[in-house]
Amino acid sequence: MEFEHLPHPAPTPADTREQALKDPGFGKLFTDHMVVIDYDEEKGGWHKATLGPREAISLDPAAAVLHYAQEIFEGMKAYKQGDDTLALFRPEQNARRFNESARRMAMPDLPERLFLESIRQLVAADRDWVPGDPDGSLYLRPFMFASEAFLGVRPAKQYKYILIASPVGPYFKGGAKPVKIWVSRNYTRAAPGGTGAAKTGGNYAASLVPQAEGIENSCDQVVFLDAVEKKWVEELGGMNLFFVFDDGTVITPPLTGTILPGITRNSLIELLREEGLQVREEPYSIDQWRADAVTGKLLETMACGTAAVVTPVGTVLGPDGEFTIGSGGTGQMTNKIRERLVGIQKGSVEDTHGWVTKL
Ligand code: PLP
Ligand code: COI
Repeated sequence: MEFEHLPHPAPTPADTREQALKDPGFGKLFTDHMVVIDYDEEKGGWHKATLGPREAISLDPAAAVLHYAQEIFEGMKAYKQGDDTLALFRPEQNARRFNESARRMAMPDLPERLFLESIRQLVAADRDWVPGDPDGSLYLRPFMFASEAFLGVRPAKQYKYILIASPVGPYFKGGAKPVKIWVSRNYTRAAPGGTGAAKTGGNYAASLVPQAEGIENSCDQVVFLDAVEKKWVEELGGMNLFFVFDDGTVITPPLTGTILPGITRNSLIELLREEGLQVREEPYSIDQWRADAVTGKLLETMACGTAAVVTPVGTVLGPDGEFTIGSGGTGQMTNKIRERLVGIQKGSVEDTHGWVTKL
């Protein structure tokens, strides 16, 4: 499909942009352009793609997404590599997961090449917005929602795919400093058979109250336990978890349908194995987590995701009080793996896996 390029009447002046890029924060600053692709069952599916100015969209008040939350999204980043070229990290995995989420939410597939082409188009238009500093990148947010005006409960027949971009620094204010995690007792995130493995807005809406509870208790993030036994550690509101032990083994919770299959998670499994560690995807309980931290068998816990990269978990506030992982600082393996991953993304470490797509 050809992308129609709409003129931009008033792009941001270069000096305003440069000033804003000095301290972008996370998700507050946006680039000049966006991609919109329309879907209509009666017009043969995906039929109109534009690259134009980022602007407000108009939506019928009966649009299905506003009532029944048919919505999915992705999160990925464009990185400036040492030589000033731009690169994406495993974008085809985001394209694939986008369609897995779409299927779970009874939405149409977006052809992977159209997803990838939209990313190329937007990054090319907004390439001056990619921060160059070591912690910076251009966060890309592709999303799709049901736009059909209809109040019956059934899958919509019209959708919009939109791609926007936001220059970002670290997700956490403290950068890669250890975070404190709140174990949610009253709330769970996803039940078996539910939508936990899909990247859909409702999962994040459901995480807001437990996340606020965590903040009230001086924690940075919430960790969810499984919905059936309230025993097994699943994931954070926006990150997967890894537990590193003193015998060279590592555990990460298995993909049983209630957690998001993270692309960083998948990459870390490979990188940790290359470090000679034995990575097992198996359930790990909150009681064991505390016991292993107390005896010192557990050396490190790391949280990972596109936004948070690799972040050490320093302290956990659980039902039986607080416990500290290792010395509460950043563990050796967490540091090493973070540096390797960021090095691959930023082009300073050789990409032996074919994970990097240059733009
Ligand atoms: N888990 C949740 C709930 C997330 O929102 C994310 C972020 O996208 C992740 C895990 C990590 O996934 P990825 O590494 O693909 O960014
Ligand atoms: C991401 O890492 O891309 C996410 O979507 C997580 C969110 C907490 C920003």
